[in-house]
Amino acid sequence: MTWFESVAEAQRRAKKRLPGSVYSALIAGSEKGLTLADNLGAFDELGFAPRTAGHFAERDLSTHVLGRDVALPVLISPTGVQAVHPDGEVAVARAAAARGTSMGLSSFGSKPIEEVVAANPNTYFQVYWTGTREDIQRRLERARAAGAVGIILTLDWSFSHSRDWGSPHIPERLTFRELLRFAPEGLTHPRWLMDYVRTRALPDLGVPNMASPGEPSPTFFGAYGQWMQTPPPSWEDVAWLRAQWDGPFLLKGVIRVDEARRAVDAGVSAISVSNHGGNNLDGTPATIRALPAIAEAVGDRVEVLLDGGIRRGSDVVKALALGARAVLIGRAYLWGLAADGQAGVENVLDVLRNGIDSTLLALGKRSLGELSRSDVLVPSGFEADLGVAVG
Ligand SMILES: Cc1cc2nc3c(=O)[nH]c(=O)nc-3n(C[C@H](O)[C@H](O)[C@H](O)COP(=O)(O)O)c2cc1C
Repeated sequence: MTWFESVAEAQRRAKKRLPGSVYSALIAGSEKGLTLADNLGAFDELGFAPRTAGHFAERDLSTHVLGRDVALPVLISPTGVQAVHPDGEVAVARAAAARGTSMGLSSFGSKPIEEVVAANPNTYFQVYWTGTREDIQRRLERARAAGAVGIILTLDWSFSHSRDWGSPHIPERLTFRELLRFAPEGLTHPRWLMDYVRTRALPDLGVPNMASPGEPSPTFFGAYGQWMQTPPPSWEDVAWLRAQWDGPFLLKGVIRVDEARRAVDAGVSAISVSNHGGNNLDGTPATIRALPAIAEAVGDRVEVLLDGGIRRGSDVVKALALGARAVLIGRAYLWGLAADGQAGVENVLDVLRNGIDSTLLALGKRSLGELSRSDVLVPSGFEADLGVAVG
């Protein structure tokens, strides 16, 4: 596979290689797709204020985030990577390690945490509030024993299952009947199919990290059903969970200033301003619009990250200039993974790295810490200050 020069090209290759239903599961985007579109479109509204001379010959892209040094301010956001590539999260973890960054592993991921940590020691385990406190504690214990360096608690999922463009069919298990149903798609995407034929294994649709030690993996729908029946957590639950983990703890899915403050009170060490990549409550504004007010309110007490809509290095720079310490990426690396496995994810990280570097060069910056709001042009009315008391 030849090198690709943009995330857009990774997406095109993923679309070509993957069966339609697998590809559309990666696009996701709930309801009408307003939030998904705004996550992308909002970055386009921001401009730059570049310099002409006095640039720096070398730029430092490294930073320290969630207790670790990383070579670039881009981390892997947790996603359920079912059926995209046989190596799944292990390939992603290896690519992240090769490029000097950290890995977020979804509790709905397809590979056991032990294998993922072996591929990248800087792995954070992502938790949904599912089952009893004891169930959740057991999953944390397993993550701790496996060597996870931190926890990501994702709380912004509200079970919005309707998509105007039609949700793809996800089978419970790959039975013979399901295979027959899927055969036409698989056969018209022979390269994807061959990746699996080579491993002599079918896509595993189980969720191994939702199992207690020694128990078999539940199916995706089995675990999802348990999650749907679990009463949503309170802020006391968040504080309780935080107290169970000694080390970096990222709360993912904060979009309001008042809740960013509550997250600080609950003792988290970091938040990600996120709307689940537009897969959640449609009509939620783009994360980059909500970021500045949140960074301003709590950025001196916790690390503020952002995810949603990052497709190029200049997007990363815009987020950092508006107050993020680093960003997490979702679809961008999933497309890389689909296009070319580990090499494809490395390629995506290289594209972003090159883009960050050339943007820093143009802005006349030597390091990420020198970025500030004055480097970007923010049109009036751009920001969405949610949860700010008026008057
Ligand atoms: C296919 C898909 C699956 C996802 N699964 C999870 C998940 O299991 N856990 C989680 O915290 N976030 C999940 N997310 C959200 C991502 O972590 C991240 O917030 C989002 O993808 C960021 O937006 P971007 O795709 O525009 O980069 C998922 C996103 C996608 C697209």
